[in-house]
Formats: sequence, C-alpha cells, structure tokens
Amino acid sequence: MINVTISVDPKKIKWRSVTLRKESCITPYLWINSIIMIKLYSSPLQGFTDFRFRNAFQKYFGGVDQYMAPYIRLNGKMEIKASVKRDILPENNCTPDLIPQVITKDAGEFLFVAEFVQNLGYKELNWNLGCPYPMVAKRGMGSGLLSKPGLIDEVLHIVSNESDIKVSVKMRLGYESANEIYDVLPVLEKFELENISIHPRIGKQLYKGEVDLDSFENCLKQSSYPLIYNGDITSVRVFRSLKERFNSIDHWMIGRGLIADPFLPTMIKADSPIYPEDRFEKFNKFHDSLFSSYKEALSGTKHVLLRMYQFWEYFILSFPGSPKGLKMIKKTKDFASYNKVVQNIINSEGYR
Ligand SMILES: Cc1cc2nc3c(=O)[nH]c(=O)nc-3n(C[C@H](O)[C@H](O)[C@H](O)COP(=O)(O)O)c2cc1C
Repeated sequence: MINVTISVDPKKIKWRSVTLRKESCITPYLWINSIIMIKLYSSPLQGFTDFRFRNAFQKYFGGVDQYMAPYIRLNGKMEIKASVKRDILPENNCTPDLIPQVITKDAGEFLFVAEFVQNLGYKELNWNLGCPYPMVAKRGMGSGLLSKPGLIDEVLHIVSNESDIKVSVKMRLGYESANEIYDVLPVLEKFELENISIHPRIGKQLYKGEVDLDSFENCLKQSSYPLIYNGDITSVRVFRSLKERFNSIDHWMIGRGLIADPFLPTMIKADSPIYPEDRFEKFNKFHDSLFSSYKEALSGTKHVLLRMYQFWEYFILSFPGSPKGLKMIKKTKDFASYNKVVQNIINSEGYR
C-alpha cells in the first residue's frame, strides 16, 4: 500500500489523502482522475432535461454528480407556473443533486424565486446569465445582461442582503463581445458565490462557430472562483484535450453531448472511450422509459411524437449506421410506426 497526499487546487487548497493498492492496474490519468475526483454537471436544456429525462438518465446511465433544472422565468407576474413547480418538486426528482435556475434582471423576481425554491428545500439557486436567444437577450436577460455589470452588481447586492440562498452563476463571455465578461468577473468577485460556469461563446453566436478557449483561459486567470467549463464536450477524446489544457479544472458541465451520447459521463469518469457491451440494450430501455413518460404526460399523439423527434435530433448522432433514421422518425404518424422505426435504428447498430 502507498499513501499519497496531493494538492488539488492552489487557490482553494484541499488536501485529500487516498490509499492506492500498489498492484492496481490503472493508467496514470485514471489514477489522477480518481484522486481529484472530476465532477460532472448536467447542463440544463429547456424542453429536454426536465425531471422525466433527468430521472430516466440517472436510472439507466448515471455518471452525473449534479443536475441543473432549466430556468424559471416569471414573465412579469410573481407567479410560478404549475409545470415549473412540477419539474423541481423533490418528490418528482430521483437525482442525487438538483439545482434550480432563474432567469431575470430584477432583484424582486430573484428573491421571489429564491423563496419559492427554498420552501421546497433547495439551498442554491443558479442565475442564468447565458441564454443567447434574442427574445430573452434583447430584454436584458441571460447573456443580454452581461453588458450591464452595474445591474448585475445591484441585483447580487440586494439578493445577498435579503436572502440566505446560495447563488451560483452560469454565463457566456458576453452578448456582443467576448470582452464583456472582463467587466463582469470583478463584480462577481465582490460576492460569495458557489461557483461560476462559463460557456465560452458570445450570445450573438448562439451555438455557431468554435468555443473561445483562449478567452476561457483568460477568465481562469482573472477569477478566484472555481470555474466550471461548459461547451461542446461531445466525446472522451474532446474531454481529454480540454482537461489537458485546463488541468486545474475539476468541474465540467455537459449539455447537448450528454443527450447525444448518454454514456459520455460514465466513460469520461472511467477515462475510457469503450462502451459497455449492453450499450444498445440500455439505450433501448432508457428510450422506452422516456417514451412512456411522455405518453403519460403529454396529450395527443402529435405532441408526443414531436417531443421524441426533438430528442432524436440528438440521439441520432449515436447511430451513424442510420443516416435516414431521423427523416423516417419525422414521417411517423402513430406510436406503432414510431416504435418500428426506432427499433430499426437501434438494430442498425447490431442490437437484436
Ligand atoms: C435547446 C436548448 C435549451 C437550453 N436551455 C437552457 C436553460 O434553460 N438554462 C441554461 O442555463 N442553459 C440552457 N441552454 C444552454 C446549455 O445549458 C449549455 O450551456 C449549452 O448547450 C452549451 O453546452 P453544451 O455544448 O455542452 O451543450 C440550452 C441550450 C439549448 C441548445
């Protein structure tokens, strides 16, 4: 037996003592992984990662340490929609750690949502400063708020004075320019935030173009917070190259990649690009569970099939042997034909 003690992060030094078996057959990378304990967060996707998805994902795949719920938006009224409440009600959620999120530019709305989630037992509320959609950003919310560091300061000041909720922030680099973040980070330093996750694109880009890793690296230098990297993690290979560049980061957030390849979190944690033998059997069960829950929740065949089609826009990336699969799904008009197409797609990868 060897006793090893290593430092994880120079700023927030945490010393962890671990015992390794000398004869353990693990790669140095996996060894380091197991020590610094990479944490993977599921990034919220409105319309996709609701409690039905999160529960099914956790049951069949796991590997995620924390899930974030899609944002709560008040639309001018101090009222929480029933569907929003349903999504974060503790009794509807079987995931280990769930963080609700709010999108707003108003301290009063923030406090209202904070109280609502605290009454449900949540201790942390994430603030969305990243949503890129013009309908949101043009109203000064999401990434549209990043050009107003003064307003961010004001909202955080009021919230930290009037509520004891823990606040974390999820943001982009800016809306118009990647320089906007450099005026926001010093504001965030004034408050005691849980963490900051950064998707290194600007709002105007939506999801186009490359992630701006140089700007993300500059943010790392300018923030004393434990930054979480979020953006375009789609494979173990991509993760490895990001981890190599940003070695000090041990918290990573995955959104679309996790829907396209639900095995990704467990494979990243195992540092292995190899899928389990029962890959398609597991996917099949996960799919059936998701399909059943939407049949139960949504009214009308059309709505259910549309929802499943939206998922398949991501799932299909795991099925290169079915180039026409998505088109076929789009054409289905009833559950029987949908099921048949899905089975053909899954079978195309060799699962019977
Ligand atoms: C359809 C869709 C809905 C999204 N909804 C949210 C949301 O509710 N809250 C949020 O913070 N981010 C939302 N995002 C952004 C993602 O959480 C994530 O930051 C982004 O997709 C980049 O990560 P990825 O490359 O791993 O997907 C959404 C993204 C998409 C594509």
